[in-house]
Amino acid sequence: MSLQTLLLEIRDGIAFLTINRPDKLNALNDTVVAELHDAARALKSNSDVRGVILTGSGPKAFVAGADIGDLAKQGVLDGRNRALSGQAMLRDFETMGKPVLAAVNGFALGGGCELAMACHIRIASENARFGQPEVNLGLIPGAGGTQRLARIVGMHRAKELNLLGEMIDAREAHRIGIANRVVPADRLMTEARALVDKLIAKAPITLRLIKEAMNEGYDLDLPKGLAIEAKAWGVVYSTEDKTEGVAAFLEKRKPAFKGR
Ligand code: COA
Repeated sequence: MSLQTLLLEIRDGIAFLTINRPDKLNALNDTVVAELHDAARALKSNSDVRGVILTGSGPKAFVAGADIGDLAKQGVLDGRNRALSGQAMLRDFETMGKPVLAAVNGFALGGGCELAMACHIRIASENARFGQPEVNLGLIPGAGGTQRLARIVGMHRAKELNLLGEMIDAREAHRIGIANRVVPADRLMTEARALVDKLIAKAPITLRLIKEAMNEGYDLDLPKGLAIEAKAWGVVYSTEDKTEGVAAFLEKRKPAFKGR
């Protein structure tokens, strides 16, 4: 895959995917969105990759939002398409069977906050700042900010963030649930790596089924969600990793999962 705006390194089963426009605080122009989408699809089907860490280049920003220069050039018909292409790209990360972790190394604003929210876990450096400032440009969030944010922090806080457009720091993001963890900036990638290492040591099919059941059940009523869970529970019984995990416990040893 030839990439202009992303850096991709695959090491020890982990794809390190870095948005690389530090002079523009890694703002999402059309090329970045298209390359992120291509990367999501490629990583999903690459059997060498068991987990993904998404981060931004440079010390200041994860992603400072949509490229405002691009927005200035776009007309009425472009808006909806732009929102749809951003949303489709994020959905591919969100529904990826493998763990996807956002290592938020600075500003995560607008599309940057939305990108982080589509990842399964967010680990933030102490200098990270989160927010949906679109309202200050006369815009609305277009890649899930009016939807995922409320699901993560609750409707009342999400309305405050979306309507006021103010930034919050990493501690506040952690307090309200946007960031799962906050670490010193110089520990961010080490801690992100340690977390993904823990996840990829688990049974991959099991991880995928947990996420599928949670994603599919979330918007349904409880009986329908429980039915999805029961089906997934049935599927997990057919895996060698379930046999191995249960046997390992009974034999008082560590399981050796194989992804089968
Ligand atoms: N789109 C395009 N370029 C952006 C950008 C964006 N979303 N965010 C930052 N940049 C560019 C700046 O224009 C500047 O470029 P220049 O050096 O060519 O002038 C460069 O990145 C550095 O940004 P700067 O504003 O000088 O840094 P700062 O530390 O003073 O402020 C921010 C940082 C994040 C507070 C500020 O850049 C900002 O508010 N960005 C826009 C955030 C936003 O509204 N995002 C949602 C868009 S829908």
